[in-house]
Amino acid sequence: MKIITKIKDLQSDLLLLKSNGKKIGFVPTMGYLHEGHEALLAQARANNDVVVLSIFVNPLQFGEGEDLDTYPRDIVHDEQVAKKHGVDYIFYPTVQEMYPDDMSVTVKVHKNTDVLCGASRPGHFDGVATVLTKLFNIVQPHNAYFGMKDAQQVAVVKGLVKDFNFPIEIIPVDIVREEDGLAKSSRNVYLLSEEREEAPHLYKSLQSAAEKIAEGERNANRLKQEIRGYIEKHTSGIVDYIEIYSYPELGELTELKGQIIIAIAVKFSRARLIDNVTVEIG
Ligand code: PAJ
Repeated sequence: MKIITKIKDLQSDLLLLKSNGKKIGFVPTMGYLHEGHEALLAQARANNDVVVLSIFVNPLQFGEGEDLDTYPRDIVHDEQVAKKHGVDYIFYPTVQEMYPDDMSVTVKVHKNTDVLCGASRPGHFDGVATVLTKLFNIVQPHNAYFGMKDAQQVAVVKGLVKDFNFPIEIIPVDIVREEDGLAKSSRNVYLLSEEREEAPHLYKSLQSAAEKIAEGERNANRLKQEIRGYIEKHTSGIVDYIEIYSYPELGELTELKGQIIIAIAVKFSRARLIDNVTVEIG
């Protein structure tokens, strides 16, 4: 496994491998790897000749007052996880390497950003799309792996790849959860112990909504109210949003049909947690 910090060095290695017919799988991350990231790495390893993992806490996607400076980092641990999964390259650039000067061109996301995390984190998806445009150009992978934990990110990335004609297959990977149902996240370490105990109720509220849909409920507002009631009763978190949209279009729905996503964000004292379930309604 090679750890590369310079764009040019990675590009020259990967271009050579590609010219030898090797299939490149890419897993972009911000590090502090957990089993959610590991699921992406495992799929990349199973379906490609060369696996590239990027670890870069991207300043462009953090808003003012967000956790850029305190975002958890542990490169030693990340290296071990990467080794365990047979990663070939860790790309670990500095901010200076990725953004040596103020950028004269950035990517702006127009669709799917006025809802969910896009609404509460203005500019966030522009930052994600900009860094991924750079990373896709640097790595030029055949396949890139993204977790459904960030379902809106998957929708935005699919739009980016389609609109900018990146010859890359975007592969969504199911959410990996703790045994008690809490979606794995680098930010879970911020939870106070009592909040950590309450946090599995986020997923429980989503499961119970999915069960109600299975029993025939089709009214989106009623479901949202029930989820809110459940979260407010069982946790000390403050609901940021509870939404039900078509997926991946992220369009408003009054009556539920087709593929839908129920997505929530809840603020705890030092962490904002997101979770979602997608449901296919026949
Ligand atoms: P990060 O939050 O590190 O996540 C990297 C990838 O891991 C994302 O595709 C995310 O959806 C996936 N992931 C995180 N937790 C998961 C879980 N519990 N189950 C399944 N997948 C999970 O997302 C980012 O970084 C950044 O926005 C990035 C794409 C790297 C651009 O900077």
